Amino acid sequence: MAEREDFLTRRCVWVNGPVIVGAGPSGLAVGACLKEQGVPFVILERADCIASLWQKRTYDRLKLHLPKQFCQLPKMPFPEDFPEYPCKRQFIQYLEDYAQRFELNPRFNECVQSAKYDDTCGLWRVKTASTKAASEVEYICRWLVVATGENAEMVVPEIEGLGEFGGEVRHASEYKSGENFRGKKVLVVGCGNSGMEVSLDLCNHNAFPSMVVRSTVHVLPREIYGKSTFETAVVLMKWLPLWLVDKLLLILAWLVLGNIEKYGLKRPSMGPLQLKNALGKTPVLDVGALQKIKSGDIKVVPGIKRFYPGRVELANGDNLDVDSVILATGYRSNVPSWLQEGDFFSKNGIPKQPFPNSWKGKAGLYAVGFTKRGLSGASLDAARIAQDIGKVWKEETRKTKKFSACHRRCISQQF
Ligand SMILES: Cc1cc2nc3c(=O)[nH]c(=O)nc-3n(C[C@H](O)[C@H](O)[C@H](O)COP(=O)(O)OP(=O)(O)OC[C@H]3O[C@@H](n4cnc5c(N)ncnc54)[C@H](O)[C@@H]3O)c2cc1C
Ligand SMILES: NC(=O)c1ccc[n+]([C@@H]2O[C@H](COP(=O)([O-])OP(=O)(O)OC[C@H]3O[C@@H](n4cnc5c(N)ncnc54)[C@H](OP(=O)(O)O)[C@@H]3O)[C@@H](O)[C@H]2O)c1
Repeated sequence: MAEREDFLTRRCVWVNGPVIVGAGPSGLAVGACLKEQGVPFVILERADCIASLWQKRTYDRLKLHLPKQFCQLPKMPFPEDFPEYPCKRQFIQYLEDYAQRFELNPRFNECVQSAKYDDTCGLWRVKTASTKAASEVEYICRWLVVATGENAEMVVPEIEGLGEFGGEVRHASEYKSGENFRGKKVLVVGCGNSGMEVSLDLCNHNAFPSMVVRSTVHVLPREIYGKSTFETAVVLMKWLPLWLVDKLLLILAWLVLGNIEKYGLKRPSMGPLQLKNALGKTPVLDVGALQKIKSGDIKVVPGIKRFYPGRVELANGDNLDVDSVILATGYRSNVPSWLQEGDFFSKNGIPKQPFPNSWKGKAGLYAVGFTKRGLSGASLDAARIAQDIGKVWKEETRKTKKFSACHRRCISQQF
């Protein structure tokens, strides 16, 4: 009986075109570009909506950090009446409109469990499990586009004693607002963009945040004298070498923010852009947290030694009473958990080749959105991938039309 049920819930689907895994901005961008090339495709998404990172795993006060022209997806700019830095709600609206305009209809609630290239038939076999019902589908396709993102899973570090701490512990991806933390002493672990903004939000809700800074961090103002810091860097990089742009950015940051080291925020020895290029570490673009650090409303504390019930011992031996902990400790790719391939992706789930060569692997494998360059990097990848697949698709459909009946136009056939 069990065997019979198992048999009844398995299906096999032939996809005439690529399978795209993930309906975040990257997967949607590839879909829109493929539409223009006339190539059919299927998008598989584990969540029940597009852009699930933005819709379900980000805090309420989030805004795009970069001006909107650097965050738009291919073929559709942001509406003119959107502000320079759209808020989360506006960005999601833009993505919903994008999906509608290009008629992108992902298959929701289908989590890819494995994908493997079958040498014998020269095709990819992509297995999904439904997140709603006990059913599995195997998709068979010639091209596989990995669009599951650099932030697919949260990083939860193992910290001694955390299990016996007793208070609430949650990751930044589960944090919505400081509303529920009023009057509480909150330890925010991590000082990336998430840690800084969560700490600021907690302050704005009358909580008492202490932010753990265990190493070094580059903090830059979001704007320098009214102009976006990112845009300034992009312009400077056209004319000057990276190291010199870094030096100029740090001088400008010093003029705007002052010396941040005296507040416990030690800068790395490598400049912010060089560090981003070498290690993918994003500088913090400050949107107000630094002012709260200067005023003492956000306390900067060193690394954690261990937790005890209701308190934490820090690396310098100090003890802090703590009610709640927010782990703003970052994210990781989940590609190694499902893609059975060891050539193109490294063990940490990021392509081995850096930008601009990180988009194309062997045997019809592609990656979009793994360049550590946010939405603008994803848009560049998407256009390249669609062009590459579109070229082969057009050549082959032309041949097919000439010599035999045209059978390749249907999106998928089930058997
Ligand atoms: C808090 C936060 C703020 C950010 N702000 C900015 C910003 O302002 N500007 C910027 O450029 N970048 C920003 N980023 C970076 C962010 O990664 C990109 O903006 C963007 O979301 C990347 O899109 P993506 O489609 O590559 O990945 P994601 O948005 O993560 O989408 C990947 C999709 O794949 C799905 N998926 C994952 N695994 C599977 C599976 N096995 N099967 C099926 N589906 C799967 C996920 O559910 C998800 O919907 C931010 C990131 C975070 C965490
Ligand atoms: N508004 C926005 O646009 C916005 C907002 C938030 C996030 N983002 C983006 O989202 C991505 C993820 O950002 P993020 O801030 O969530 O993650 P992140 O940049 O990876 O930062 C993680 C932080 O956690 C620290 N950390 C990790 N483990 C730790 C431990 N055991 N003890 C103490 N500290 C620990 C790291 O310190 P070390 O450096 O010492 O490892 C680092 O400071 C980035 O690309 C970021 O730019 C954008």
